[in-house]
Amino acid sequence: MMTKRIGWLAAASVALLAAVAVLIGGHAVHAAPAAALQALVLNDDATTQWAMHSTKGRTNSHQRVHYHGHSLVRLTPARAADLPALHQLLLDLNIDVWSALRGQVDVRAADAHVLKQALDRYLPGVRARTLVADVEKQLLEPHWHAIDERVAVKSVAAQLHDPKSWFAEYHHLDEIYEWYQLLAAAHKDRITLMRNVGTTHEGRELMALRFTNHSSTNVTLPKKQVYVQGGIHAREWIAHATTQYIAYHLATSDDQTITSLLDEVEIVLVPIVNPDGYAYSWTGDRLWRKNRRADARGVFGVDLNRNYPSHWGEAGASKFRFSDTYMGPSPGSEPEVQALMALFDSLPRVVAALDLHAFSQAILHPPSWTLTDTVHEPQLKAMGDAMSQIIKSVHGKDYVSERLVDLYPHSATGTDWWYDQSRPLDNLAGKRGVDAMNMSARKTVFRPYSFTIELRPSQEDTWQTGGSGFILDKREIIPVGEEILPAFLYYARTALDNVLIE
Ligand SMILES: *[C@@H]1O[C@H](CO)[C@@H](O)[C@H](O)[C@H]1NC(C)=O
Ligand SMILES: *[C@@H]1O[C@H](CO)[C@@H](O)[C@H](O)[C@H]1NC(C)=O
Ligand SMILES: *[C@@H]1O[C@H](CO)[C@@H](O)[C@H](O)[C@H]1NC(C)=O
Ligand SMILES: [Zn+2]
Repeated sequence: MMTKRIGWLAAASVALLAAVAVLIGGHAVHAAPAAALQALVLNDDATTQWAMHSTKGRTNSHQRVHYHGHSLVRLTPARAADLPALHQLLLDLNIDVWSALRGQVDVRAADAHVLKQALDRYLPGVRARTLVADVEKQLLEPHWHAIDERVAVKSVAAQLHDPKSWFAEYHHLDEIYEWYQLLAAAHKDRITLMRNVGTTHEGRELMALRFTNHSSTNVTLPKKQVYVQGGIHAREWIAHATTQYIAYHLATSDDQTITSLLDEVEIVLVPIVNPDGYAYSWTGDRLWRKNRRADARGVFGVDLNRNYPSHWGEAGASKFRFSDTYMGPSPGSEPEVQALMALFDSLPRVVAALDLHAFSQAILHPPSWTLTDTVHEPQLKAMGDAMSQIIKSVHGKDYVSERLVDLYPHSATGTDWWYDQSRPLDNLAGKRGVDAMNMSARKTVFRPYSFTIELRPSQEDTWQTGGSGFILDKREIIPVGEEILPAFLYYARTALDNVLIE
């Protein structure tokens, strides 16, 4: 009841907030003192908090967005049973959730004091502890300083076969697109570059790469497919980097695990699902998450991972345009999502699909929107557990294996939508019959194994190092790649040999 009421209040204040935004104009609204905003909105903690977040994204794309006075706060309900109510409250207050795991929710609050007041009022059992007092000072100032100091000493071409150099840095969009094109051109025996898979709001190209050994023999044809994408959320830079790491090794490695996989399978990789958002995270707002959908009043963006037509809007997604989890005007409304769905539809034999995100260190499988397990819960859980063990064996990092819903209920994710796509088992029947399928088992369809991996850092590591979250040190790119690549190869191989049939 209570959270409903707040939701209604927030809704009622939309018009007022629009007026506030106009008054303040298109400047870096984050810098506006909280008191000024408080005076302009309803005298309600909840809507005030909402208001202070509501103006994100209204800056032009070359102006850096600042987060002066914002803090990161860890929220811990005394009772696990309060967790759903906490998540609903955070959604209604339009609070930016950074990480949620093991009953701890780390959020960015424009004003920690106001947040604590709202909690006292609506959910008094929740403990709030400030982890980072000033996001601007502690996280963003060092980040922008490093960006300003960054000099491209070597051309992309010069680094193509120098992974130590390439993976020592995060790269901006143009560099990454150039790198993928050069990689594909240098490894035509393994890579087909798929241009213009789609076009974004701002007119950027979505590209994909198809990896396989075109001359492999003695394999079942047509080849099964594995799908992997990264970068749906702009600020999760390690996801973009890890996707590159996987691509680089698929392209260049002579390791038998990889060559035998490429003999038998096609791996379709979408390197940057949200290029508009990623470009903006380099020039404007380092903490930008969504795409760059705009209207006459400015850019607001849609959370692409709340926009797939799979239980759209049913849980953990916002109806408010300025929310970081805005679900969009309708299911599959976004050109990026439409393009990814069309690409997926054009791949009739996908046995495994993977979405790379950050952060928290978790390996997550469907469902996201309901507490009811899928019929494949044992297989999915076992797959996640095995990947987690592989990851741990590399550098000792713990990745939690659980359902997406166990983070918090949310909906309309790519991972759920892929799992929804059941295909006739006949699609896998090639020239050599039905492969190793046991047709007498009366199974008629298969689905992809579907996973989201949240990469480093963990909640603990990030605060022990003084706070990093999405701004993971570039020296971690290679170690993350080293732990994720073998887990990915295991994933692809196991899915190939144990198709998820139903
Ligand atoms: C592709 O398969 C052919 C035939 O089996 C093999 O000779 C070749 O080495 C493979 N290429 C790669 C890059 O693995
Ligand atoms: C083809 O593959 C099968 C099973 O992996 C193997 O037993 C057989 O020796 C292979 N044949 C050739 C010609 O490589
Ligand atoms: C095929 O499936 C049936 C029914 O589930 C089972 O009894 C049989 O042992 C299976 N055969 C093989 C070769 O897996
Ligand atoms: Zn994400």
